[in-house]
Amino acid sequence: MSKCSRSLGAALAVFLMVVMPGTAMSQEGDEPQASLFERLGGLAPITVVVSDFIDHLVEDPVLNANPAVDAARQRVPAAYLKYRVTSLVCQSTGGPCQYQGRGMKESHAHLEITEAEWNHMVEVFKEVLAEHGVPDPETEELLAIVGSTRDDIVSTGSGS
Ligand code: HEM
Repeated sequence: MSKCSRSLGAALAVFLMVVMPGTAMSQEGDEPQASLFERLGGLAPITVVVSDFIDHLVEDPVLNANPAVDAARQRVPAAYLKYRVTSLVCQSTGGPCQYQGRGMKESHAHLEITEAEWNHMVEVFKEVLAEHGVPDPETEELLAIVGSTRDDIVSTGSGS
């Protein structure tokens, strides 16, 4: 190899490292990142966190001040909600489950959930994730997944 083509090769390597991190020349990025499902530890820890979350929600005085929510949580078994929410979280985080429940709009429309109730639920969710030691990056990803359902679930913008 000539001196010229060696320096061309070195320049190309620097280009790949600086301009295209994640290519073969990079130290990191060779391994594809594990799915959120895998990083959360799989189905067993997810079931535990969802179960705890639903236990908090069905007893929550702020949410139960909404008469439609209160009536529904007395009618619908918490175990059923745990099953459905677990399969939804499993599927949305890249796990092997198939969510076969109703859509978020259809299953929440009659509850008339307000912005304030939504925000309260998010705070409870964050507290439960923190109690279970879910790391910040995974917490952020879960909040983004939950946040993506907001427009289907919140039915009034009054904030009261
Ligand atoms: C303030 C927020 C929320 C409240 C108060 C709430 C409350 C409820 C209640 C009372 C039900 C039973 C409704 C019925 O069958 O009459 C229900 C169903 C359900 N919720 Fe929520 N929910 C909230 C947010 C969420 C979020 C963020 C998710 C997931 C991202 C979720 C997932 C589900 C699922 C999967 C079902 C069962 C659907 C089915 O029956 O097939 N909910 N929720």
